[in-house]
Amino acid sequence: MMNSSITLNVDYCFEKKFNFIHQDDWILPSEHLIFKDSLWKLEALYELKRILNAKKSLLNDKGEQWQEHTCRINKANKVISFIKQKIQPEILTGAWCKFYEILSNYPLIPQGTESFKSLHLCEAPGAFISALNCYLCCYHRSICWVWLANTLNPYYEDLNIKNVICDDRLLFPTLKHWFFGKDNTGDITNPNYVKDLQEFISEKEYFNLVTADGGIDCSDNPAEQEIVVAKLHFAEMLVALQSLAPGASFVLKKFTFFECITICKMYFLSCIFKEVHVFKPFTSKSGNSEVYVVCLDYIGVEKVRAYLEQMNQNYGSLTDKCLFPLKSIPSSFISQLIECSKLFTGFQEKSIQENLKLYSIPFSEYESELRELQNTCAEEFIQRCNIQSHLFIERLFPLKKQIFTSFHDKLNRNIRKLRFQGVGDIFENLSKSQSMFLPDVILDVERRLTTCFPLEKNRQLDIIEWSPVPKVI
Ligand SMILES: C[S@@+](CC[C@H](N)C(=O)[O-])C[C@H]1O[C@@H](n2cnc3c(N)ncnc32)[C@H](O)[C@@H]1O
Repeated sequence: MMNSSITLNVDYCFEKKFNFIHQDDWILPSEHLIFKDSLWKLEALYELKRILNAKKSLLNDKGEQWQEHTCRINKANKVISFIKQKIQPEILTGAWCKFYEILSNYPLIPQGTESFKSLHLCEAPGAFISALNCYLCCYHRSICWVWLANTLNPYYEDLNIKNVICDDRLLFPTLKHWFFGKDNTGDITNPNYVKDLQEFISEKEYFNLVTADGGIDCSDNPAEQEIVVAKLHFAEMLVALQSLAPGASFVLKKFTFFECITICKMYFLSCIFKEVHVFKPFTSKSGNSEVYVVCLDYIGVEKVRAYLEQMNQNYGSLTDKCLFPLKSIPSSFISQLIECSKLFTGFQEKSIQENLKLYSIPFSEYESELRELQNTCAEEFIQRCNIQSHLFIERLFPLKKQIFTSFHDKLNRNIRKLRFQGVGDIFENLSKSQSMFLPDVILDVERRLTTCFPLEKNRQLDIIEWSPVPKVI
């Protein structure tokens, strides 16, 4: 514990966990009940939702300064620089740290496994993949790893720029690992995506791990974040459950657990995985609702196929019908879910409270105390995740010069800044580009993109201009 303003309880910060304890009466309701009845609500959870939203509304008038303040006082603020002193992964972001923490806390990769297949949904810019690569290099050096990923296609001009991640440092040089579906959008909520993916992987085996980290900008409606992302999160679950091998694991991002669709989904997952855990990594900002649900030991698609078919067919009913009627969910599950929800809502409220308290104190008054605390937390992260210096990382692609560039349509509606890899490993004559001047490299990138994504109605060169941003990293 430090003096007046900031508190530190290391276990509290690193052990934000809830484990569902499976009960004998947690059995799957009949698939005929799926999306038949109207939506229902649980008053206890809605009360939590009201309390949390009231707390969040205290931040309504704070604007950009609030963002700066919460970043500055974030206890995990130094973690990335501490990791960088030890290792240099392909792409080191907050998401990298979060997934490395998840890997360090849950047995997602069984010991002694010789081959491992992972699928990463909603994954741009790809830090989960980079974290997994690093973890495998550390603990499973001889494993044969195959991976595939999905995300909104950053090269597809018609997509809403708000939700597209345009950092393609990892994506471009590993493009052959990314599957965007037949329509090339990468949009997982398109009901055909799952079918296209099944066709694509049909001759290959199912995956041992699926991650789903989908997020949508909810700044227009923060009080209803859970409802705004419901369709995306449901689509992720459908794709995952049709792609996982028996015994496999599923890690998915969630926010709160207040709504009917989330409660039913959590119950479904609890019936079809042996273990279900909820975890808020230390490196996930403590003032937000983000948590990860970690599901271990899947019963296998054959046992849930009838359910998935029903869900696929009635996908459109998500907003007005319940996945399962309330009476088909045992009260022992509901009480555990309420407990879980109270726990994480409590963490978040406490953090908002602390952030607000510090907002009213001049930074200089607690700066040195805070820096010390951030150093302690970063050291703790390094220790808990066992990040060793000089780990040899077999990289997913050579780390060479990157070109930071942008392209936009002539009406300036769709400006995209992309960190293109100047050198990747997927095209034949890339070594040539090392000696090329920047404008030629950009033309080369353009040519290569056109090879990948042929000119169709959605990709018309006459309305696209390429303009290099004068920055070569
Ligand atoms: C939080 S980011 C993922 C970060 C990633 N796990 C990492 O480690 O770098 C959320 C991603 O979801 C993607 N996304 C949002 N809506 C999507 C959709 N409908 N289909 C596919 N991806 C989507 C966004 O483009 C974004 O790349």
